[in-house]
Amino acid sequence: MTIEQRLSQTPVIPLIQASDATIAVQTAKALLAGGLSVIEVVMRTPEALDCLSAIAADVPDAIVGAGTVLSAVQAQRAIGAGSKFLVSPGLHANVVETSQEAGVPIYPGVATPSEVQAAWNMGLRTLKFFPASLVGGAPMLKALGSVFRDVKFIPTGGVSAANLADFLALDAVLACGGSWLTPADAVNSGRFNEVTALAAEAAAIAQT
Ligand code: 3PG
Repeated sequence: MTIEQRLSQTPVIPLIQASDATIAVQTAKALLAGGLSVIEVVMRTPEALDCLSAIAADVPDAIVGAGTVLSAVQAQRAIGAGSKFLVSPGLHANVVETSQEAGVPIYPGVATPSEVQAAWNMGLRTLKFFPASLVGGAPMLKALGSVFRDVKFIPTGGVSAANLADFLALDAVLACGGSWLTPADAVNSGRFNEVTALAAEAAAIAQT
């Protein structure tokens, strides 16, 4: 099953920001137990690649990708660590080309029509919409979707259980991403049952 097929079943991508591979694996297992299996590990800590490869090895039912990929070098490293997809906050040709040459899906961030059009001309049809709640939210996505008819968006940034349904109601939305599913205090205190409950809540919202 492709990532996009998996996302059309459960259209939520939880973010993991971790500095410890054991905690990252426990977090991924907790998310999976709540029904979310496409997981993004953000490249914002020195240990992020280790966390990603640990999840790829120890949680085989998850599809794990790398987020906050800023450069072609980071993209190559993430792919080498087992990343099945890449996410960037913005659009950069070198990062996109590196991913395309490796045959790994890349979801770069866009916030304006010009950025969507630039990405479209790079051959991309699935884009992150970031930071979703600050750059116009669901009304902006509706407007973008009416013009770019074959583009699907992954709104991320300020998405939560409170507005998830508003985004998912739009035809142009493939899935939503966010860190609200992995609160740092719960993760760092080992309260993984809370992560599972948040994931299950999001999965339930997505089914309605
Ligand atoms: C990202 O990396 O996409 C953002 O940090 C996600 O934003 P959020 O923390 O508001 O979910």
